[in-house]
Amino acid sequence: MAEPKTNELMEKIVSLCKRRGFIFQSSEIYGGINGFWDYGPLGAELKRNVRDHWWRAQTQYREDVVGLDASIIMHPKIWEASGHTTTFSDPMVDCKTCKGRFRADQLDSTPCPVKPSKMVCECDGEKTEPRAFNLMFKTYVGPIETVDNVAFLRPETAQAIFAQFQNVNACARQKVPFGICQIGKAFRNEINPRNYTFRSREFEQMEIEFFIRPDEVVQKIAGNVATYADGMDTSAPQANWGWELWHRHWVEERLKWYESIGLGRDTLELYWQEKKELAHYAKACVDIQYKFPFGTQELEGIAARGDFDLTQHQKHSGKSMEYFDEEAKAKYVPHVIEPSAGVDRLVLALLCNAYTEDTVPDEKGKPETRVVMKFHPRIAPIKVGVFPLLKNKPDLVKKAKEVRDLLRPHMTVFYDEAGAIGRRYRRQDEAGTPFGVTIDFDTLGEKPELLDTVTLRDRDTCKQDRVKISDLVPLLLQKVR
Ligand code: GAP
Repeated sequence: MAEPKTNELMEKIVSLCKRRGFIFQSSEIYGGINGFWDYGPLGAELKRNVRDHWWRAQTQYREDVVGLDASIIMHPKIWEASGHTTTFSDPMVDCKTCKGRFRADQLDSTPCPVKPSKMVCECDGEKTEPRAFNLMFKTYVGPIETVDNVAFLRPETAQAIFAQFQNVNACARQKVPFGICQIGKAFRNEINPRNYTFRSREFEQMEIEFFIRPDEVVQKIAGNVATYADGMDTSAPQANWGWELWHRHWVEERLKWYESIGLGRDTLELYWQEKKELAHYAKACVDIQYKFPFGTQELEGIAARGDFDLTQHQKHSGKSMEYFDEEAKAKYVPHVIEPSAGVDRLVLALLCNAYTEDTVPDEKGKPETRVVMKFHPRIAPIKVGVFPLLKNKPDLVKKAKEVRDLLRPHMTVFYDEAGAIGRRYRRQDEAGTPFGVTIDFDTLGEKPELLDTVTLRDRDTCKQDRVKISDLVPLLLQKVR
C-alpha cells in the first residue's frame, strides 16, 4: 500500500484519535482552548500504561531509584533559585498593526494569534523591540491578589526533586549514586502550541534526577575516572564511573526502555547538543528524538547538569545540600544526570508509530483495507477482546462471559457481541487490541476433542490459534507484561 503523505497521515491519526476516543480537544463544546488536550477512554488507558511502565522500570526494576510525588505549586523562591523567574522566557515582538505577538526568532513562521488559522503575520506591520515573555503560568495563593501572594504552576517536575533531596536522602536508605524520579503535570504558557499535542501548555513529564559523585571524589575513591570509548558496554555501573559514563549509561537505558514499548532504534535519533547550545552549567545533553510525520523532534532530553541545581537551592534557601559520603569520608554537593521525558509527546509518538493501513481478506476472502494500531501489547489500551461467535446463542454468550470474567482480574478486556465477527475484529484492530478470543461451537464441545478451547487471534497477522481456556491467562500475561 502506498505510504500516505505526511500531512495526510497526521490528519488520519488526528481523526482516528477523536473517533476512537484517544484524544479530544479540551473544552471542545466551547470552541476549544489552544494548547490543552483531553484523553478519552482509550487514550487514558494508553497514557496510564506508559506512566506505569516507566514507573516500574525505575522503581521496581532498579534498586537505585526511588519515587516522589510533589505538589504542582511550590514556594516561588524555587523558581528564583532554578533560574526560571529570570531566564525561562522567549524573546517576543508585538505587531503594532494587527497587535499579534510573535517569537522574535521565528518571525516568519509563527502563526498569527489574531487569526489563529493563518500561519504568518500577514499584515507585516512594524514590530516592537523584542521583550522577554516568561513562560510560567502565574497564580495567587490565598484570597488576596498581591505581589506577595504570587505563585507559579511548575514548568517542570525536576525542581521539586532537588528541593526534597535531603528529605529523600534521610529516609530512603540509598547511597550516592542514586536517583529520585517523578511523574506529574507541568505547565508552560507556550507562545506557539503546535503539532497537535506535541507542544502543549499543560503536559506531563517523567523525570529522573540521578545523583552521582563529582569526578574528583570518584578519582579519590577508585583511583581513576573511566573515560568512554566507542562501543563500550555501559549497562553495569562501575565504581570508577564519572559523569560521562553515567550519562552514557542513562542514554542507553532510556533507549532500551523505548525499545521495550515498541519504539525501536530505527524510529529514534540521538541529537548531541553542541557545546555552544549547552546551558552554561551543563556538561552534555542528548535529545532522544522520534521521527514524527511532521519532522524528527525531541521526545526526551538527557542532561549532565553538574551540581548547578543543588548548589542554587543551597544558596537561595540557606540549607545545606551536601551529602556525607562514608567511603570518601567527605562531604560534597552531588552532581546530577537528568533524563527528562514528556508523557504526552511519547503518547503521540506511540500513536504515530502504531498507525498502519494494510490489506487483509474480509470474511468472503475479498481484500479490504483495514486500519490497525500496532501498539506493543505492553502499552495497548485494551489487551484482549472477547467475542461469542453469535449473539443469539445463550450457551456461547454464557461461556464468553465466563472467559471475560476469567481474564478481567489480570488485564483490560473488551467484551463485544454486537455485529458480524469480522466487524468486531476490525473495531479492535483500530483500538490497537493485540489479541482476540472467540468462543465458538467447538468451545462448547461440538468437536469433543476441542471442548473448552477458544481461538486466539493475533491483531497484526490475523492468524488464529486454538488454545485451551485454562492456558489463556498465563499465555496472555507473558505477552502483555
Ligand atoms: N527538567 C528538564 C526539562 O524540563 P525540557 O527539555 O524543557 O527539560 C523535558 O522538557 C521534556 O518535557 C521534553 O523532552 C518534552 O518531552 C516535554 N515537554 C517540554 N515542553 C513541552 C510542551 N510544551 N508540550 C509537551 N511536552 C513538553
